[in-house]
Amino acid sequence: MKSNSDYTLIAEEGINALSFPSGDLEGLYAPVKYGVSAGGKRLRPVLCLMGCDAYCGEAERALPQAVGLELFHNFTLLHDDVMDNSDLRRGRPTVHVKWDVNTAILSGDTMLTLATQKVSECDDSMLRRVLTTFNDMALRVYEGQRLDMDFETHQTAVGLDAYMRMVGYKTGALLGAAAAIGATIGGASEKDATLFYDFGYKLGVAFQIQDDYLDVFGDAATFGKPIGGDILNGKRTFLLETAYKLGGEDAEALKRAMQLPANETKIRTVTKIYEKMGLPEICRKEINKYSSAAIKSLKKTKISEEAMDAFRSLSDRLTGRRK
Ligand code: IPE
Ligand code: IPE
Ligand code: MG
Ligand code: MG
Ligand code: MG
Repeated sequence: MKSNSDYTLIAEEGINALSFPSGDLEGLYAPVKYGVSAGGKRLRPVLCLMGCDAYCGEAERALPQAVGLELFHNFTLLHDDVMDNSDLRRGRPTVHVKWDVNTAILSGDTMLTLATQKVSECDDSMLRRVLTTFNDMALRVYEGQRLDMDFETHQTAVGLDAYMRMVGYKTGALLGAAAAIGATIGGASEKDATLFYDFGYKLGVAFQIQDDYLDVFGDAATFGKPIGGDILNGKRTFLLETAYKLGGEDAEALKRAMQLPANETKIRTVTKIYEKMGLPEICRKEINKYSSAAIKSLKKTKISEEAMDAFRSLSDRLTGRRK
């Protein structure tokens, strides 16, 4: 196995090697290029390359799938930023701000198709398994995104179970599919590929809880996204649902604060209540719980101890991330 940064480098090279038509189709492809260009953590391709390496010792074998999964991820981000009305991503204006909403829709569609083409670049003997995992995942992500939007209009708590399902779908499914597709390309059995999916899915839940946390307590310059966007949008986050579940006077104050007009005062008021209720510590505990459960799934596979260590170090890096 290689180091985390080596996998990131391989992924980055694969993404940089993509070429897009120019000329009169610049309007379609320039936003695609902008969307996938530097700044992202490249987590999904790294998971895919590591999954492959763990089985065949040749990470690059899954490079087309790794690149395809990053394209898919960036397609979801283009549309997500329209849905969430977000102006900033990776420290730069989002596509619908730099261009317009129609551009974000159509260039997003283009990325989805390019993603499917790249993911399909594998041996015929694996194609059906790979595409089934990929398409099942894509539907899960859309289901998660739909639930995420539906929950915004709830006046009361949706509950932590509903939250866990929503984030498992919108974020866990893609991390799961990335790990499973990489493992499949490397030669994993269907049973092991499923365990890899479980691993990525649980890691994705931990990852999304950290994302919710950073949306409130992160630093905009490092995080690359505006702070407080989830509060302004009335998003069902781990923090909000946990606070409602804890109940009491603070939760009542929070309910009132969530009714405030969407401005800086609302962000400040809600953040203070979260702090008072000890949400940062509760987030940390939950993130650790899900990452440990993720690693447990991997322990049931046939991969080496060296490979286990590489996945452990990736998981540790993610749970402490600030960006
Ligand atoms: C953002 O994903 C969307 C979520 C699932 C929270 P990342 O945090 O992996 O975004 P990039 O690719 O590193 O910018
Ligand atoms: C990410 O949810 C899920 C997908 C993009 C599919 P968020 O809406 O929390 O992601 P960010 O915070 O905008 O990156
Ligand atoms: Mg969203
Ligand atoms: Mg968003
Ligand atoms: Mg977020």
